[in-house]
Amino acid sequence: MLKRNQFGKDFKWGVTISAFQNEGWANADGKGASIWDTFTNNTSNINNGDEIGNAANFYKQYEQDILLAKQIGLDVFRFSISWSRILPNGTGSINNEGIDYYNRIIDCCLSHQLTPYITLYHWDLPQALEDQGGWTNRQIVHWFLDYTQICIQHFGDRVKHWVVMNEPMTFTGLGYFTGYHAPQKKGILNFLKAAHHAVLCMAQGGRLIRNTIANAQIGVALSCSHVKPVDRKSKNVRAAKRMEALLNRFFIEPLLGMGYPIDVMPALKLINLIFKKGDDQLMSFDFDFIGLQYYFRVVARHSIYPPILFADEVPPVKRNVKLNTMNLDVYPKGLKKVLKFYTAYKKIKSFIISESGVCYPDYLVNGHVYDARRLKYHQMILKQIKKSRKQGIPVNGYFIWTLVDNFEWKEGFEPRFGIVHVDFKSQQRTIKLSGEWFRKFLHS
Ligand code: NOJ
Repeated sequence: MLKRNQFGKDFKWGVTISAFQNEGWANADGKGASIWDTFTNNTSNINNGDEIGNAANFYKQYEQDILLAKQIGLDVFRFSISWSRILPNGTGSINNEGIDYYNRIIDCCLSHQLTPYITLYHWDLPQALEDQGGWTNRQIVHWFLDYTQICIQHFGDRVKHWVVMNEPMTFTGLGYFTGYHAPQKKGILNFLKAAHHAVLCMAQGGRLIRNTIANAQIGVALSCSHVKPVDRKSKNVRAAKRMEALLNRFFIEPLLGMGYPIDVMPALKLINLIFKKGDDQLMSFDFDFIGLQYYFRVVARHSIYPPILFADEVPPVKRNVKLNTMNLDVYPKGLKKVLKFYTAYKKIKSFIISESGVCYPDYLVNGHVYDARRLKYHQMILKQIKKSRKQGIPVNGYFIWTLVDNFEWKEGFEPRFGIVHVDFKSQQRTIKLSGEWFRKFLHS
């Protein structure tokens, strides 16, 4: 049976949310538009046509949600800052109401003995910066550092835990290569520019925090997957290696000073075209922790598209595996394999599973949500973490994705990931079976 004390007393139990997915009130109190406001304003961009409205209303209900996290027994509350709430034009004049809002959140966390973890960037780039090229414009490094400096100045006296960026592979891959996400840019060059600039922002942002906040704990949150080849044919085995390099190595290696994984993707040398003199030094940083975000397994095979990668995924729907609402392959056991993979990077000091979770349809029946499959998923994930710790892997925290159901980007409100149910019409919260389980577990 799982018991809290099997994880040690310093293990951090947390929850992660994000500004765009939770806050709502996109135009309130001087906030500027983000690329995701622009994207969702056109509801045909959302798979089922959902209107975001006020998302999960965290802008108004933050006290209630933070209290829920407290009641469940968590000790970390990880949230992101909406850049355009603080800097409506991305750069230049500050919106003090935005600063006040995040100060209230931080103070509310602290008053409930929850440690705030700030994510500086969770994909909602100010639209005004995208209008100037966004992540493809090298100026982003200056814009990002100015924004980081403002956050340090206003929040750094009370916030010691900083996640510089959330899942760079997702927002550069889907936002600047496939065009599936905002800002709907496409092509290999856009992707490589966005990715390289994101690396510079992570490392430089980390350095800025280290140089200005005493005793800060600084990390990044990287998506990762368990990747395996569809069969043992050598072309598919090699394709899986490239897929693994893209999904698991692409960002961590330059950040650790190892450069991009050109060993398995020589054409990636193209990225050198984007390099400026001195970038080699600027790209790496000695993070205190690496956040890993694990959701699914990928089965890879050789493919002529996309170029450089020459690999694609065998769609989970064709593989007779357990699927979630987003048709992803639910495979919690993969986390242990992924952790083993990352342990090979000796420079990583500490891991936190900064997100994991699963979406299933949930039904509110007589005031209860019986989400047994989600509960099972989290328990399986915890078992993988427990086993990994036994093997000496320094994985020191688990942050549930997520506290309350929220807006799942292009997929709208349909995929529910929360351990607390939200009725989006009334914004009523109901703790699900999984949330109740965590409450008992964390109080045990
Ligand atoms: C990771 C992202 O950080 C988060 O925003 C998203 O909702 C979850 N994955 C689930 O897809």
